[in-house]
Amino acid sequence: MRIGSIFENQNLEKRIAITPEIVKKYISLGLEVCLVENYGLHLGIKDEHFIEAGVKILKDEMEVLNSSDMIVQLSMLSEEQISNIKENQTLIGVLNPYNNKEKLEKLSNNKINIFSLELLPRITRAQSMDILSSQANLAGYKAVIESFANFEKAIPMMMTAAGTVPAAKVLVVGAGVAGLQAIATAKRMGAIVFATDVRMASKEQVESLGGKFLTVEGSENLETEGGYAKEASDDFKKKQEELLSETLKKIDIVICTALIPGKKAPVIIKQNMIENMQAGSVIYDLAAIQGGNTAFTEVDKIINRNGVKIMGESNILNKLPVSASNLYAKNMFNFVDNLFDKENKKININLEDEIIEKTIIK
Ligand code: NAI
Repeated sequence: MRIGSIFENQNLEKRIAITPEIVKKYISLGLEVCLVENYGLHLGIKDEHFIEAGVKILKDEMEVLNSSDMIVQLSMLSEEQISNIKENQTLIGVLNPYNNKEKLEKLSNNKINIFSLELLPRITRAQSMDILSSQANLAGYKAVIESFANFEKAIPMMMTAAGTVPAAKVLVVGAGVAGLQAIATAKRMGAIVFATDVRMASKEQVESLGGKFLTVEGSENLETEGGYAKEASDDFKKKQEELLSETLKKIDIVICTALIPGKKAPVIIKQNMIENMQAGSVIYDLAAIQGGNTAFTEVDKIINRNGVKIMGESNILNKLPVSASNLYAKNMFNFVDNLFDKENKKININLEDEIIEKTIIK
């Protein structure tokens, strides 16, 4: 049984799914590992490192695809790559089922086993496989670093003989995994941090990190059983708008992370709110790729509206691909470990296992 991985489209994705560290774990499961030549070179990982760990390096990516029983990736493959996968092979990645319906249909018609890891249930047993959490955590950290780098004032309060530099005020919109890491990072750097969310459960988490939670007056708790946000009612949106309009006048940096799974991101920071912000403020929109949380977000651009910079990237994880790959590769291994029948040395699609049942695409 062989597991393999090939290049992503490196203009869009620098992360890799198999790291030298994780190779040994696959081998001890009884799997052979094969990779395309120079697989990790862009991250400073030479083929020698993989070979030392026990990987078989192949020159041609189509050969890797053809000869691997399991193919592990970050994003969906191209049409040409898909046509090289055969019946009974398994493809695992973050395959974006909402946007890749046609490719997924083709794969499933060809009787290929497909698993998409963003569909993992948020249950305790799946935590070690949870790519959404591991990657969102890094994204939240990096969004703060990027916004601070674009802010032309100091972050912590400094008392000097020449006068006092006030601490920057940061607002985090959406206190899920990315938001909580953004709060922790901004606090560590000395900012005064505020946060808001539609899920009341996040209030305690925000406060435990030293943030001040902004509660939308009279709001009901908009949380699904799975722990995600529900779409807010018009009444909630109006109250949230009033609260944020006032707050934003004195905020220097906003980190937006609000998402609703499978839907366009809610537009929370409206035009009039941005117009009332102080010139020099920065908004980093982590929801950019899902449409953005602000009225002006454009992917991979820094928009300047009356001196307020609004930024958001298609893939912020490309700015720390080594850390992101290390965590992703571990998540992937833990998923494969659960899927693999060690006695019979084959994958076991046990649909009674919630992890398998929720991630499989039929
Ligand atoms: P996400 O990435 O889907 O959304 C980010 C945040 O935005 C969420 O906190 C959401 O409530 C918030 N949001 C959505 N619409 C909003 C609006 N209109 N205004 C303000 N905030 C809005 O969420 P993420 O980070 O994936 O976390 C979702 C939940 O899953 C959290 O409760 C998290 O703690 C939980 N979780 C549970 C795990 C487990 O294994 N038990 C593992 C990881 C996360």
